[in-house]
Amino acid sequence: MIGVFDSGLGGLSVLAALVEALPRADFVYYADTAHVPYGSKSDEQIQRRVLAIGEHLANIGCGLLVVACNTATAAAVQALRAAHPGIPVVGVEPGIKPAAQETQSGRIAVLTTEATANSRRLKHLIRDHAGRVEVFVEPCPGWATHVEMLQLDDPALAADVRVRIEPLLDRGVDRIVLGCTHYSFLAPLLLQVAGTRAQLVDVADAVARQTQRLAADLAHGSGRLLLQASAHPERLHAALPRLHLGQIAARVA
Ligand code: DGL
Repeated sequence: MIGVFDSGLGGLSVLAALVEALPRADFVYYADTAHVPYGSKSDEQIQRRVLAIGEHLANIGCGLLVVACNTATAAAVQALRAAHPGIPVVGVEPGIKPAAQETQSGRIAVLTTEATANSRRLKHLIRDHAGRVEVFVEPCPGWATHVEMLQLDDPALAADVRVRIEPLLDRGVDRIVLGCTHYSFLAPLLLQVAGTRAQLVDVADAVARQTQRLAADLAHGSGRLLLQASAHPERLHAALPRLHLGQIAARVA
């Protein structure tokens, strides 16, 4: 079984790519809804949660873990790997590298939680992969919570998206990296503002390919999916149609 987790619903955007890449694999998705959002928590708090979830997923038999959360990856992927040396761990990091390779204007933006924006890992990612490209890091407090509450049509959110994205476009940004897995569900809203001026960069498919490379025998299961949450698991099930995740709903055991 492959364990996939996030603070809440965001990692479902990664899970959608995973089930497509590994149609016969068995998955368990764990949403830490009792502790969402991670983006406003300290590294120590996030590490504690990630280690507890890793322990739980290892105990129920996961042979591979996917940290479907940029914030958790930045704060705790090293600690998770150290705690489970026998289990491959795939993390999610903002697609700075593909965005820097594709940009025509030489300016890209990365939208993240506050914790990711302040992380050493993001600074290193930019230093190592952006080259001469100018990178604007834009923390977006509250966005993940809007997704979590399924308030995707909230006018206040639409206004905040506009306030954050328009100045980036005015500075010539032509690639917008989704540096939080929750933001994939805001793509329609972001594209409404970006129009043809910028493209969105999402790494879900790249994460799925990396997981495929490491899956070995885990790729050959019976295609089942278990959904778990630390609070209100029923909301996780109810969110699937609202997030247009029929392909995930069809697999739930
Ligand atoms: N989905 C998470 C990420 O990719 C974090 C959202 C949150 O809990 O703040 O960063």
